[in-house]
Amino acid sequence: MSLADGVRGDLKLTGLHKRYPNGFVAVQSLDLVIPQGSFFALLGPSGCGKTTTLRMVAGLEDVTKGSIHIGDQEITHAKPYKRPVNTVFQNYALFPHLTIAENVSFGPKRRGIKDPKDSVKEILALTELTEQASKKPTQLSGGQQQRVALARALINRPDVLLLDEPLGALDLKLRRAMQVELKRIQEEVGLTFVHVTHDQEEAMTMADTVAVMNEGRIEQLGAPYELYTNPHTTFVANFLGRTNLIKGTVVGREGSGADEVVKVDMYGTVASIKASRVHTDAKEGWIGIRPEKVLIQPEGTSIDAPGASLPGAVVTDVSYIGVSTDYTIRMPWGQEITCFEQNTGRRGGLIPVGTKVDVSWRPEFAFLLDSAQDAEAGIVEED
Ligand SMILES: Nc1ncnc2c1ncn2[C@@H]1O[C@H](COP(=O)(O)OP(=O)(O)OP(=O)(O)O)[C@@H](O)[C@H]1O
Ligand SMILES: [Mg+2]
Repeated sequence: MSLADGVRGDLKLTGLHKRYPNGFVAVQSLDLVIPQGSFFALLGPSGCGKTTTLRMVAGLEDVTKGSIHIGDQEITHAKPYKRPVNTVFQNYALFPHLTIAENVSFGPKRRGIKDPKDSVKEILALTELTEQASKKPTQLSGGQQQRVALARALINRPDVLLLDEPLGALDLKLRRAMQVELKRIQEEVGLTFVHVTHDQEEAMTMADTVAVMNEGRIEQLGAPYELYTNPHTTFVANFLGRTNLIKGTVVGREGSGADEVVKVDMYGTVASIKASRVHTDAKEGWIGIRPEKVLIQPEGTSIDAPGASLPGAVVTDVSYIGVSTDYTIRMPWGQEITCFEQNTGRRGGLIPVGTKVDVSWRPEFAFLLDSAQDAEAGIVEED
């Protein structure tokens, strides 16, 4: 089924700015093109302006400056009900006295469609609610209620569906299941989905493109793989998973084009970082390396990596997770870094605390960030 027939095009936000009446600027001159038919995630910590952005697109909040277009149609100041946009919120208020089918047909009926039976049937099948059609909302599980909210929005055939933390009320297991569900539905209907979340795993698993938002601005935008492996700021590096940041000084450049590398001195060892992964012009930088890219071996045994290995580190903490082990390693200069190691069984056991180890990584995985940025930016408190 395609609900995407007659859809007008990409969602374009140009210089979109929101200053609330109390003077607080929640969204700062946002420029964003969300391709038609894509699954786009707006990811960021609480208070960064995600909901404000969605509410402006939906017409529920005035725009201070800038414009909103869908294809060639400008909707910046259009009334909410005149926009080809629907929203699914976290607290999906279903009508408790109506059946599921009646909840879903409510929108079309209000728009004067007398008998939307066929499209209701179609949408209920799509959202796997056919069996629930004559039940009342209180007789459904959380995940089913969430699907009703989705069905109610989809039946209006919006060009753009806005989802504001739609899975926030569900427990983790159901949340994971609904992520897969939502993704399937989006692929089936082919509409543009803009999904707001502060859960990085959710954004990464579902979206084609993720925009990482911080204090009203987009810090970086890209495919999940690109964002995770080549973050441009300490905020993005820390917000998407964990990262080690080690102080380094740029000492030279070698090669050209795609082969160009920047040489960075790290407490006496020189590391090579691909120029495309260098995100600062300054002499000082943070060398970033993800914990699962860090390789360790007891002192003197060989490491399976082509780069230089750093001697003189010691294991200070071992945390066995089952599938993997988290090692904390104290480097010779006193800094502690983290290494995640898959438990393939190759090692035949764990490396005990106190063991002297050599540390290395494949140079192509490192990145270099601006040392003026806070090394702790974007670190998410574990709950
Ligand atoms: N009506 C308002 N007046 C003034 N400030 C507001 C108003 N509504 C929201 N804000 C502020 O704007 C900022 C962005 O709010 P918004 O609701 O867009 O954040 P969010 O990214 O959706 O956060 P969350 O993940 O917690 O939902 C916050 O600091 C919030 O306090
Ligand atoms: Mg919000």
